[in-house]
Amino acid sequence: MKTLRLTNAAPDIRTAGELLKQGELVAIPTETVYGLAADALNGAAVENIFRAKGRPQDNPLIVHIADLSQVEDLTAFVPPVLQDLADAFWPGPLTVVLEKSDLIPDEVSAGLDTVAIRMPSHKDARAIIRAAGTPLAAPSANTSGMPSPTTAEHVLHDLDGKIAAVVDGGPCEVGVESTVLSLCTRVPRVLRPGKVTPDELFEVLGQVEVDEAVLGRLADDAVAASPGMKYKHYSPKAEVYLLNGSAKGFAEYVNARPAEETVALVFDGEEDLVRCRTLPFGAEGDPAGQAEHLFDDLRQADDWGVKEIYVRCPSDEGMGLAVLNRLLRAAEYRVIEV
Ligand code: TXA
Ligand code: MG
Repeated sequence: MKTLRLTNAAPDIRTAGELLKQGELVAIPTETVYGLAADALNGAAVENIFRAKGRPQDNPLIVHIADLSQVEDLTAFVPPVLQDLADAFWPGPLTVVLEKSDLIPDEVSAGLDTVAIRMPSHKDARAIIRAAGTPLAAPSANTSGMPSPTTAEHVLHDLDGKIAAVVDGGPCEVGVESTVLSLCTRVPRVLRPGKVTPDELFEVLGQVEVDEAVLGRLADDAVAASPGMKYKHYSPKAEVYLLNGSAKGFAEYVNARPAEETVALVFDGEEDLVRCRTLPFGAEGDPAGQAEHLFDDLRQADDWGVKEIYVRCPSDEGMGLAVLNRLLRAAEYRVIEV
């Protein structure tokens, strides 16, 4: 299959909408990461997403909407707090898990009786949903297990020839996937951290829990609240290590490794401390900047063919929780104190 490269100009957005209506797969930009979209109400189309990504069948997808009124048809019950959450965070990088309606095909919910819904803020994503005239199921547009794509080039690297089209909307602003919040637990629970932080959710909800799998490692036989949390994730081919400690401790550790086979993700201003190549990872106190660089850095390291990636361990404060969550998975929980 030849993968069409579409721009985000109006005629191309219309083409993307037509392809989606016909049941084709189209990668679309969102403010978080690129998504691999299909008509969420067309089970056969959604099944092709799993095939293109090599995604395990039991990992459910997020349904993307452009208008709040679309929630009603997709869900069995809308709790009153949804309006408050929508007022505060939609459109934007928050996904909410609700009881699903019969309209949701099994391919989307992967057999669960819930559905994850998000209203993206990216103008191209919203235009494409409207052009398609249907809600869009979309996981991140990467090969399953790889770092999520934050540019159209990342998408093509993984999926060229496997999908009908990609819409190039430039690099994603946030850089890590949306916060996933379940409203189906007794107390609302963060299943995956993102730009919308637990503190911000608490402000609106008055109560919120963070699932233990966010920073902990799930036992092999444990049942994940969010199936995506049990898979190896965000992993470049090189081995990732998180080094927790001072810049000096980091530099000493990294400089003892073979420089040609190593790359370091250092905070701004620390580039000269290490001998190996470095990639920009934002300022120490700036988790939003770190999130923006993270997946691009991991992919760049693989392009260079290095064997080991050492990363300055970020703080878990605020949006840092999302950065740390992704890094722990990329590193398969290898954290070294330095
Ligand atoms: O920012 C994002 O959320 C991006 C863009 C494209 O919108 N999408 C994304 O999708 O990251 P994906 O499939 O890579 O991650 C969806 C996560 C998975 O961890 C999945 O297990 C969880 O959401 N999820 C989906 N439906 C769920 C449900 N009904 N209950 C619990 N978790 C669910
Ligand atoms: Mg993903």
